[in-house]
Amino acid sequence: TRTPVTVTVTGAAGQIGYALLFRIASGHLLGADVPVRLRLLEIPQAVKAAEGTAMELDDCAFPLLSGIDIFDDATKAFDGVNVALLVGARPRTKGMERGDLLEANGGIFKPQGEAINAGAADDVKVLVVGNPANTNALIAQSHAPDVPAERFTAMTRLDHNRALAQLAKKVRGTGARVSVADIKKMTIWGNHSATQYPDIFHAEIAGKNAAETVNDQNWLENDFIPTVAKRGAAIIEARGASSAASAASAALNHVHTWVNGTADGDWTSMAVVSDGSYGVPEGLISSFPVTTKDGRWEIVQGLDIDDFSRARIDASVNELSEERDAVRKLGLI
Ligand code: NAI
Repeated sequence: TRTPVTVTVTGAAGQIGYALLFRIASGHLLGADVPVRLRLLEIPQAVKAAEGTAMELDDCAFPLLSGIDIFDDATKAFDGVNVALLVGARPRTKGMERGDLLEANGGIFKPQGEAINAGAADDVKVLVVGNPANTNALIAQSHAPDVPAERFTAMTRLDHNRALAQLAKKVRGTGARVSVADIKKMTIWGNHSATQYPDIFHAEIAGKNAAETVNDQNWLENDFIPTVAKRGAAIIEARGASSAASAASAALNHVHTWVNGTADGDWTSMAVVSDGSYGVPEGLISSFPVTTKDGRWEIVQGLDIDDFSRARIDASVNELSEERDAVRKLGLI
């Protein structure tokens, strides 16, 4: 039998945690033949709730689940970790300034970065889900100097999936029979925030250029882009709680694709450390089109970026630069 992969989930007692853990334990993170050992990290007040979730995980008798441990100490939780899912974060509350939000999250992601640096397995892969995800990933990464920077990623796969769903819906509206599986090469650029840029100019629907197939600039600018970028707020408005099952599903997709590879002729969106590609300042953790193979990602090179796309990528990347400047000022990186 295979050695279990150690998966650490922070914020395990939260709503994404509840939607995520059962699917990890049933093989949706790494594959249906890969046993997992779960390590859950929570704050002391939420440890009891995490224990309740662990009881339910036991009660599912998942054949792939080889053990669960619960911690309120990051150093212990990340000891030997292969896949780290950093979901727990400090949400923005009423009246909170951006500086306060970044500072509160610095207090979470700095020690977690240090703990990953101290104890993670050599092949560790980190996905930050907790918001502000890109900058939280940057904070954690900057406190893990012994871990290659490319192992720290942030999640824009939910935005990517939202874009696939909206595009498929639009094309179905014209009477065509299209499923999300027919759409390739979708891209989310920039920050996981309302400034993100979902780009369909390189996307393909059943092998044909998506923007040309849709041929509706008004829809693109005034419907598609804002719908994808503001979907999080729309879910809160409708559900009375933020996206949880869809966020968990995207986290599973992100790691599964990273580990198992993108299909030929397709790519995915991940926020990864920039090497300067497409004019994104080096070191920022920004979303790009990436291919993955053998557990490594690569930014897709050579795409033509027209003025429309350039302005939108720049706006989102500028926001990331501002966040980086702000956390620098606060001494968090
Ligand atoms: P939640 O509030 O239900 O759960 C968060 C959990 O994190 C709580 O149980 C809390 O006790 C725990 N936590 C807080 N500080 C912690 C620490 N230092 N160590 C370990 N655990 C800690 O929130 P939910 O709905 O599960 O969302 C989690 C995060 O994911 C939020 O920041 C949310 O904004 C973000 N998110 C990101 C998305 C993305 O696409 N990147 C999509 C949806 C949500």
